[in-house]
Amino acid sequence: MQGALYEADIDMAPLHRRQLAIIGYGNHGRSHALNLRDYGVTDILIALRDGSPSREKAEADGFEVVGLGEAAARADLISLLAADEAHGAIWSNHILPNRKAGQGLVLCHGFSIEYGLITPPADCDVILAAAKGPGGAVRESYLKGGGLVGFRAVHQDASGEADAIALAYLKGLGCGRAGIGETSFREEALADILGEQAVLVGGMCALAREGYEALIRAGISPAMAYIDTVHELKYIAELIHTRGIAGMYAAISDTAEFGAHGVEGKIGAAVRPVFDEIVKDVTSGDFARRWVADFEKDRAGLHAARARAGNHPLEATGRELRKALGLE
Ligand SMILES: NC(=O)c1ccc[n+]([C@@H]2O[C@H](COP(=O)([O-])OP(=O)(O)OC[C@H]3O[C@@H](n4cnc5c(N)ncnc54)[C@H](OP(=O)(O)O)[C@@H]3O)[C@@H](O)[C@H]2O)c1
Repeated sequence: MQGALYEADIDMAPLHRRQLAIIGYGNHGRSHALNLRDYGVTDILIALRDGSPSREKAEADGFEVVGLGEAAARADLISLLAADEAHGAIWSNHILPNRKAGQGLVLCHGFSIEYGLITPPADCDVILAAAKGPGGAVRESYLKGGGLVGFRAVHQDASGEADAIALAYLKGLGCGRAGIGETSFREEALADILGEQAVLVGGMCALAREGYEALIRAGISPAMAYIDTVHELKYIAELIHTRGIAGMYAAISDTAEFGAHGVEGKIGAAVRPVFDEIVKDVTSGDFARRWVADFEKDRAGLHAARARAGNHPLEATGRELRKALGLE
């Protein structure tokens, strides 16, 4: 990674000088708290909503748990690791009215700043410290002596130390072992959302279901169709993760490679306009507005879509296969 910084380049003092509160104790919240504490940042408050199911876990892990308003009043630095769609309400109802003057804000996704859920006052450092991966991987890689690649960005630098805080925070997560690059809130937000919608989640699931349905239409048994379009994804993903796309192609059969190169262009041309639409939908803020509106209606749209996905016939086939393989 060009221009990346590593552990030895980074001073932890800007973080040690500040009382940190982490809002949320989910996948990222818990991993950030545990990694930072193991790295020597001992003064951490965990802030949770009233009745939070995570209180017991945070207390069992040895953290002081406080309410959102108390964290806003006490902390010099808030790391907002609650669900993105709730950021606007948490900011307006709990942080802003109670906020200690000069308090900084750390986010690990560009979403809520880029799409206007939060408008911070001028005395606030606004920092992106993104360990690139799911929260569980932040902890797992740290415990193995490594870390995820980190990216940082500064939206506002009120203290003059915003970049130094971002670097110290990411170093405490273990990212200094893998390398820490620079980005912007805009770049991180678009890349993350497009990646998950177009490729990693939406795109991959659509391709798998379309492949399964094409095989069923061709008279193939559900078990065979499922294995060849869904179940084996894991092996290909693992090869791409460890060797890259070209390395994966080198590791599979020539028949598979020849055939895949032959259809990649057609599939690419079919999805290109859809991907361009996704870029427009995300960068215009329309996606964020729709998601926050759905969140405010108790996620009615999300629940309906989840139920539709769960009812697809390939789910029953998959359950049977996983049972036979002892996977569930
Ligand atoms: N950098 C990256 O590559 C990356 C990857 C994944 C996620 N992220 C970001 O990490 C952040 C957290 O994601 P996550 O995966 O850790 O989510 P998660 O596991 O779902 O945890 C969400 C946490 O938010 C809390 N929460 C939800 N609604 C709340 C509300 N209204 N008020 C107060 N707390 C609330 C939950 O509280 P309870 O415990 O009380 O339910 C939970 O502790 C998000 O900003 C996400 O975009 C970044």
